[in-house]
This record gives sequence, C-alpha cells and structure tokens, in this order.
Amino acid sequence: MKPSRENYVPHIHEDEIMKPQELTRATHAWGAPERIALVSSVDEAGKPNLIAVGWAMCAGMEPPVIAIGLGSKSHSCANVTATGQFVFAVPGADLAADVLYCGSHSGREVDKFAATGFTATPASQVRPPLLAECLSNLECRVIATQDVGDHRTFFGEVVAAWTSERQEQRALLLVGDGGGYETLLRNDIFRLGAVRA
Ligand SMILES: Cc1cc2nc3c(=O)[nH]c(=O)nc-3n(C[C@H](O)[C@H](O)[C@H](O)COP(=O)(O)O)c2cc1C
Repeated sequence: MKPSRENYVPHIHEDEIMKPQELTRATHAWGAPERIALVSSVDEAGKPNLIAVGWAMCAGMEPPVIAIGLGSKSHSCANVTATGQFVFAVPGADLAADVLYCGSHSGREVDKFAATGFTATPASQVRPPLLAECLSNLECRVIATQDVGDHRTFFGEVVAAWTSERQEQRALLLVGDGGGYETLLRNDIFRLGAVRA
C-alpha cells in the first residue's frame, strides 16, 4: 500500500524551535497513555502477590519475551528475583479500582488477593497464579535481568498464554490529563494514531 501523507505534513514554524526543558515536561508528550498490566508473583514459600505495572514492553518475538520494570524495593521485585517467574495479566477497564489498589499497597503489608477478591487460578508452567478476571494471562520465566538505578527490568520468556471469554474487552490504560485517540494512518498490520499530550 502506498503511504499517504494526507493527514500529516511535517512542518516547523520559526516559533516552534526546540528549547531546553525540564525532564518531566519533556517526557509529558510521550509518558501517557501506558497500557497497564497486573503482575502476579510468589515468594519462596508460595504466597502470591500482585503489582500494577505500566512499565512493560514486548522485548522479543522468537522466543516471545515481555520485559517489566519493577521498583527495586517492591515486594514483587523480591518475589520475581527469588523465583525467576511471573504471570503478566491484562486487566480490563472494569478492574480499574482493583488495579489501583494493587498499585498503591505493598504485599509486605497486605494480602492483595484477599483485599481485591481476584480469583487465583493455577498456571500450567509457573508457580505464580493466573488471574481469572483478566482479559489474558501470560506465564513467564525470567531469562535475563537488568538493574537500572532504582528499578530492575525482568525479561520473561512467555511459556504459556491464556485468554478469557469475558464481556469486558476494554484494556486499561494509564492516561494523562488530555484524552482521546485519533487514527492518522494505517496499513494491513499497523495503525498509527495520536493521543493528546
Ligand atoms: C497504574 C499504575 C502503574 C504502575 N506501574 C508500575 C511499574 O511499571 N513498575 C513499578 O515498579 N511500580 C509501578 N506502580 C507502582 C506499584 O504498583 C506499587 O508500588 C505497588 O504498591 C508495589 O507493590 P508490591 O510492593 O506489593 O510489589 C504502578 C502503580 C499504578 C497504580
């Protein structure tokens, strides 16, 4: 398909030149939205925990790998470091309140499964449980780890994948204070859009 520039013409005006900026403002246009996941993990005794993550990416296709960035002091980071396993679960929009709870309480102080009522379902290849209420679950085995300042990035090979037939199909996003997507350009594989910074 021939690329179309119908909706987008690169241009720059004299008053639009780059100026030095403080980091949080410079990353504002790109920092949101983030697709949100819940990561389940277990400690060495098998006690499960949940953490909300926005820092996640596909890191490889063959084998399939998902990378997650966990705060070094989080209980989840200790669990994944100890066991080398996690489940990457994709919550629907209906789980927003539970995701926020998991993202603002530590498993060191609370039992997030008891508090939220999530249904822990046995995984097939790893010890951390699947979340029955989520849209999909990916069982991951850590194949590499990278410490980056105050965070640790885990690269997890996906060893089993699950989806549910739930009615809710809207994935949960961390959004900025603007909103809305606009589709700019698409081909058979990719759809490029813009979101208000
Ligand atoms: C929407 C959202 C996204 C988050 N993304 C991350 C993330 O990518 N990495 C991280 O370490 N913490 C992230 N957090 C914060 C953790 O979820 C939070 O510190 C949590 O309480 C840690 O739990 P734990 O100590 O039981 O592991 C996020 C929180 C929210 C609400």
